[in-house]
Order: sequence, then C-alpha cells, then structure tokens
Amino acid sequence: MKTIAIFANKGGSGRTIATMALASGFLAQGKRVAVMDCTDQAGTNPKGRHPSTLQNWMIQMAACKFRPPQLELIECQTRDEVEDRSAAAEARGFDLLLIDTSARLYEPQLAALGLANLVIAPAISPFEAKCIVEGISEYLGTPEDLMCLVNGCRNGTLEAEETRKAFGYHPVFQSELPWAEALSDQILNGDIDHFVSSLACKPDKPGFARFRDAQAAWVAVQRLTFEAEWALRGQRLEPFVGEQSVYAYKRKAVA
Ligand SMILES: Nc1ncnc2c1ncn2[C@@H]1O[C@H](COP(=O)(O)OP(=O)(O)O)[C@@H](O)[C@H]1O
Ligand SMILES: [Mg+2]
Repeated sequence: MKTIAIFANKGGSGRTIATMALASGFLAQGKRVAVMDCTDQAGTNPKGRHPSTLQNWMIQMAACKFRPPQLELIECQTRDEVEDRSAAAEARGFDLLLIDTSARLYEPQLAALGLANLVIAPAISPFEAKCIVEGISEYLGTPEDLMCLVNGCRNGTLEAEETRKAFGYHPVFQSELPWAEALSDQILNGDIDHFVSSLACKPDKPGFARFRDAQAAWVAVQRLTFEAEWALRGQRLEPFVGEQSVYAYKRKAVA
C-alpha cells in the first residue's frame, strides 16, 4: 500500500478537493482506495445533523457504485488511531491510502505526514503557496517526498504561473487542476467520471460548455493521478532548474 498525505497549513487550499479528486483518479485505475479523514471533522456523527464533508462525499460515491471494499473512509482523531488504522488498511489489501489533514497540525496530522510515501501540498493562489512554503520548513523540515500542486487558480493561467513560482525551490507537479465545478461539487456529485458522463451531450446542446469543462477537469485529474503515481516511484516530471534546489540531486537522477 502507498500512502499519500495532503498538507497545507492554511485553510481553503483545496486539501479536501484534492483528496477526493485523487480518490476518483485512482478508483478509475481499478485501485482499492482508503481515504483517511484526519481533519477536525473526523469523528463527526454521520447520522447527526451535519455529517462531515467526506462522510457526505462517501454517500455520493456509494450512489456512483464506489463502496467498501473498493473505497472506504477511515476517521482518525489520535496518533494511535492513525497508526493502527493505516496498518489495518494495509493488511486489508488497499492499494492506496489518501490522508486529508487540517490546517492546524497536531500529533495525529504529524503522524499521518510521517507515514506518507508522498506528501502533496496544494495551493489555490500564490498566497496559499507562500504560507505552505513557510509551513513546510516549520512542520516538515526538508522533506524528500513532497510535491506541491497548483490547484484550480480562480484567476487563470497568470495566477497559476505565479502560484507555481511562489512554491520556490520545492518541486511542483506539472499537472495542474483547473478551477472547476466537477471538482468543487464533488460532495454533491460524487465520482468525477460519473459526473462527467452524466453531463455528456452533443456540441449543439445548451449543456455542452458544462460538459466540456467537467471533462477537461476529469482529464486533468487523471493526468495528476499518473504523475502522483510516478512521484511515488521517485520519478519527477520537474524540469531541471539548477543547483539552488535541495532537490537538484533527485532531478539529475531522473534526467
Ligand atoms: N480546483 C478547484 N475548483 C473549484 N473550486 C475549488 C477548487 N479547489 C478548491 N476549491 C474551492 O475552495 C474551497 C476550499 O477547498 P477545500 O478542499 O475544502 O480546502 P481545504 O480542505 O484545504 O480547507 C472548496 O469548497 C471549493 O469551493
Ligand atoms: Mg478540508
């Protein structure tokens, strides 16, 4: 089993969006995916008035036919739970464990990050990216297995480019996620593939623009999923940018 933890020490960076999107991406590859909620919503009563984001998402995923043992939600509130339940997921044969974390990092979140084979740090704008760069040195030191992610910049390609730059010398996925309904509304629609196919229509129909955007988002998610898989194997699509990077040795090894 490979473990991917999502890290951003700033709320609203798209951690939960990225967790759900990668789950759809890996499920589309036929993998068995466990999603761990290590946010402050973990432990919410699913039958209560306000189920957590991931609990709601699981209901929609079930409606799209993704249920245990293909997809499972694990909720953890303590370090012991994180360690025991990830070991249990491995023993039960899951291919992937995706861990969503919170902006404030306490013991359970730090334990989750410590378990990860790959840490993904998403940002939706240069501001988030700068916070994350500070957070990385505060919480992660000089991590070897970290990839930053430009996630859906609202204001187009220029902002996406600035976000990429704001990550500094940290490696960034070449694949970016767009700002898209198919991603933001996953807790309403569940699986992205399922959502896209439900919108399918011909170019002369009024819903075509919506379908096209959703399809583009789904393609971006799949591209990212593959790149994440390569990153898990130590391969990076990063272009070589010179010696100032602490990751230079890694890039050279790939080239
Ligand atoms: N790629 C995206 N496309 C559209 N909206 C997004 C995207 N990423 C994030 N958002 C928006 O930002 C909000 C915060 O994202 P979320 O994943 O909940 O952040 P976090 O878990 O880091 O707090 C979401 O509710 C969604 O509306
Ligand atoms: Mg969240």
